[in-house]
Amino acid sequence: MRVFAVSALALCGAVLGQSSVDSYVATESPIAKAGLLANIGPSGALASGASAGVVIASPSTVNPDYLYTWVRDSSLVFKELIDEFTTGKDTTLLGQIKNFIAAESTLQQTSNPSGSVSTGGLGEPKFNIDLTAFTGAWGRPQRDGPALRSTAMITYANWLLTNTSSSSEVLSDLWPIIKLDLDYVANNWNQSTFDLWEELDYSSFWTTAVQHRSLRQGATLATKLGQNATLYTAQANNALCFLQSYWNPTGGYMTSNTGGGRSGIDANTALASIHTFDPEAGCDAATFQPCSDKALSSLKVYVDSFRSIYAINDGIASNAAVATGRYPEDVYQGGNPWYLTTAAVAEQLYDALIVWKAQGSLQVTETSLAFFKQFLSSVTTGTYKSSSSTFSTITAGVLAFAEDTLAIHAKYTPTNGSLAEQFSKSNGTPLSAFDLTWSYAAALTVFSARAGTVPASWGAKGLTVPSVCELGPPAPTVNVTFNVDATTQLGEDIYICGSIPQLQNWDPDTALIMSPANYPIWSITVAVPPDTDIQYKYIRKNNGVLEEWESDPNNEFTSPVSGTATLNDTWR
Ligand SMILES: *[C@@H]1O[C@H](CO)[C@@H](O)[C@H](O)[C@H]1NC(C)=O
Ligand SMILES: *[C@@H]1O[C@H](CO)[C@@H](O)[C@H](O)[C@H]1NC(C)=O
Ligand SMILES: *[C@@H]1O[C@H](CO)[C@@H](O)[C@H](O)[C@H]1NC(C)=O
Ligand SMILES: *[C@@H]1O[C@H](CO)[C@@H](O)[C@H](O)[C@H]1NC(C)=O
Ligand SMILES: *[C@@H]1O[C@H](CO)[C@@H](O)[C@H](O)[C@H]1NC(C)=O
Ligand SMILES: *[C@@H]1O[C@H](CO)[C@@H](O)[C@H](O)[C@H]1NC(C)=O
Repeated sequence: MRVFAVSALALCGAVLGQSSVDSYVATESPIAKAGLLANIGPSGALASGASAGVVIASPSTVNPDYLYTWVRDSSLVFKELIDEFTTGKDTTLLGQIKNFIAAESTLQQTSNPSGSVSTGGLGEPKFNIDLTAFTGAWGRPQRDGPALRSTAMITYANWLLTNTSSSSEVLSDLWPIIKLDLDYVANNWNQSTFDLWEELDYSSFWTTAVQHRSLRQGATLATKLGQNATLYTAQANNALCFLQSYWNPTGGYMTSNTGGGRSGIDANTALASIHTFDPEAGCDAATFQPCSDKALSSLKVYVDSFRSIYAINDGIASNAAVATGRYPEDVYQGGNPWYLTTAAVAEQLYDALIVWKAQGSLQVTETSLAFFKQFLSSVTTGTYKSSSSTFSTITAGVLAFAEDTLAIHAKYTPTNGSLAEQFSKSNGTPLSAFDLTWSYAAALTVFSARAGTVPASWGAKGLTVPSVCELGPPAPTVNVTFNVDATTQLGEDIYICGSIPQLQNWDPDTALIMSPANYPIWSITVAVPPDTDIQYKYIRKNNGVLEEWESDPNNEFTSPVSGTATLNDTWR
């Protein structure tokens, strides 16, 4: 780990309001750390009822009810705590880390609606805080969880290997847990997944990026431990290849999801860049490093998409910092800016500054030109050494933008420092879940990047993208026959649509027509992902024109792990 003093970065240029950001960071850091620890069982002040090592998402139990533990949130929280521990910043965290590992190991073995440990259960996104399965309907599976969890644990394992000069503890206590997650990622990375916002079931840039990272780190750890790394390396290469396909050269951003009917502009991509930051990898675009031309272009497109849709951003210059949310089409809880996404914008820029400073230059390409013109409108493509005035002007501008982004974060944080999930797009007051653990973790990681702290390298340097992408293992499916007893008039047909791509993601226009061969039973057999919670409805069309949906609620079932299933329904 190398540390660059923030004063060295700050020397790049005078920044308006910097001292107020300094004071915000000074007061908010301990509050964020305490807020995060308060949400971890068994002794966190707001986590009563949570088992040891369980991270609650938020103590909020109504609108929204977040008193659950998510594998993603917990792993990101412990990624931060493990970074603090292994870099020596906080040496008191060992007990927490051990609790986390034990709790996650229990969750791995807990059968749940996504399956058992060997049949897909590792893709389950959320559990009850007493480590039992959550069995309600949910967007599952979410395949980023095992990747993020193994990344957090691998950092700890690497530290243990260095710290204890023996591999026996890692091999006996940690490797079996890490291996389960790595095998899951290696065998399932190429299947559709709910995205990190739990809404879209396609492929997700964030998920592929964090899967790639975990496989790459996993291969290195496996080799160190004398284990077989062949599959991890092969699938890391395949995932890296697929990762390139998210880039949208026309729009200048990574399209966050491979379907779903949105612009694809999403905090997904900035979050992926900061969580796969590798200080050794320079501004590598294959892994979308924070200072890569593609990630910078994407960041600008993402930030700009919130300028006109949030009233609190009104009147801010078109090249200045603003509050940002998940994605511009968001309507959840009113569709507001989030603390953790606003923090991610600043973090990506601090990460970029760290690398430009370390390498003594920055490069402007056709792809990143629009990003850089925000800070120097006359800039042209080229490489600018740190001794040049172009470098000074641009880095000062980028730093000011990052600082101003944090100033916005500060402005909408209540005076007691509490961080909710969102803040109002119209007046900035905190909204949705209060004391969101991930908001606290995101504050700590951006503060750490601002201080110039760099995380350990994970092997992103100098990777070659394979020229031909392989699919990885073929996605398994099971055949499900849907039968519905429905009386129809001449001209009418019965169709089906539902919650997965194979059922057209609820789109009535492309719903699948069923066969009346055994009228009044209408039938269709659909190949669906195994062991997946699926919702669906039948619809009636007259000469292809939508006439009627079945009444609520949605029909729901879990597809079998293997083999086939037949569902016998009656039109409601
Ligand atoms: C191992 O880590 C502990 C706790 O951070 C530290 O006190 C100790 O000096 C380290 N030992 C080695 C050999 O690195
Ligand atoms: C699997 O990988 C192939 C090849 O990269 C890609 O075309 C396909 O879209 C991927 N499928 C999913 C669901 O990720
Ligand atoms: C290592 O794993 C690969 C891929 O799963 C397999 O083909 C190979 O036989 C394994 N090698 C050893 C020595 O077990
Ligand atoms: C902090 O302030 C916010 C906003 O005023 C309030 O909703 C919250 O309850 C306060 N938190 C604590 C722990 O006092
Ligand atoms: C599903 O149906 C297809 C088409 O009839 C068939 O080729 C395939 O073997 C079936 N798969 C299973 C697992 O039964
Ligand atoms: C539907 O009917 C078929 C044959 O009549 C039967 O094999 C199957 O088990 C039934 N499915 C359910 C879910 O009851």
